[in-house]
Amino acid sequence: MSNSEILRVENLVKKYGKGANEVTAVNDMSLTITKGEFVAIVGASGSGKSTLLHLLGGVDAPTSGKVFINGEDIYSLKKDNLAIFRRKNIGLIYQFYNLIPILNVTENITLPVELDGTNPDQKKLDELISMLGLEGRLNHLPNELSGGQQQRVSIGRALINNPALILADEPTGNLDSKSGSEVLEALRVCNQTYNQTIVIITHDLNIAANADRVVTIEDGQIVSDTSNYDTAITVPIELPSGAVEPVQTELAQSVATVPDATQAQAEPTIYSE
Ligand SMILES: Nc1ncnc2c1ncn2[C@@H]1O[C@H](COP(=O)(O)OP(=O)(O)OP(=O)(O)O)[C@@H](O)[C@H]1O
Ligand SMILES: [Mg+2]
Repeated sequence: MSNSEILRVENLVKKYGKGANEVTAVNDMSLTITKGEFVAIVGASGSGKSTLLHLLGGVDAPTSGKVFINGEDIYSLKKDNLAIFRRKNIGLIYQFYNLIPILNVTENITLPVELDGTNPDQKKLDELISMLGLEGRLNHLPNELSGGQQQRVSIGRALINNPALILADEPTGNLDSKSGSEVLEALRVCNQTYNQTIVIITHDLNIAANADRVVTIEDGQIVSDTSNYDTAITVPIELPSGAVEPVQTELAQSVATVPDATQAQAEPTIYSE
């Protein structure tokens, strides 16, 4: 493992179903991500993005291939050890929040700590609550919160253990643009202030354009992997006449072909932490 590598995926395959119903959702993917990178994953609906993220997050075992996080071959771990490893090293954020309805804001955020049988670090908790703007909502249950607030709680839960790796599946897909910007801002702070590595699935061209790197997936395979450091991203230009000339790079085109996130189906699977 190189010093700066946090995640390495080798020949990852995930098949669902049997016989005529078999679907290869992830088809021989290999990928390495460096500590501190902000990586956007884009691709059409059904291309395998969520499946990949669940494999990276240790919540869904691959059919074959390996996932190394901080050099640890995670699927070689026993189930309980994998759960502990996951809680310590990986923060997962879902499009539909996956909060526990009977737990209040504080209890939802501190759940991963409680599951490890330890006490939450009050300083860290206060810092997160303030960063996420959740003061004054701590005793509220999820159904007493707006979508943006619920998503911020789920980010708090993902961050409470200071994970080195944060995986987010369309975290702004269900939010209006203001709430989406707040969620994105929280992820940027994690990345820039705490050097946490972010892998984010998105249909949002702006998010992809501002990531360090964009990985495009098609039919379960990586079809392009572009660093934004050396790729100029051109977005539609407003001409003096008011006409818009759609000047698009390869990235802009690949994101533009993705259906609107609001049309995406709800994830069928609920994973418990
Ligand atoms: N539990 C499952 N059982 C059977 N097939 C599945 C399952 N989960 C996903 N698939 C199939 O695997 C493929 C990839 O699905 P996945 O959810 O990873 O796509 P996605 O890129 O996240 O799409 P979206 O942008 O709509 O969220 C799809 O064809 C889907 O139907
Ligand atoms: Mg998905």
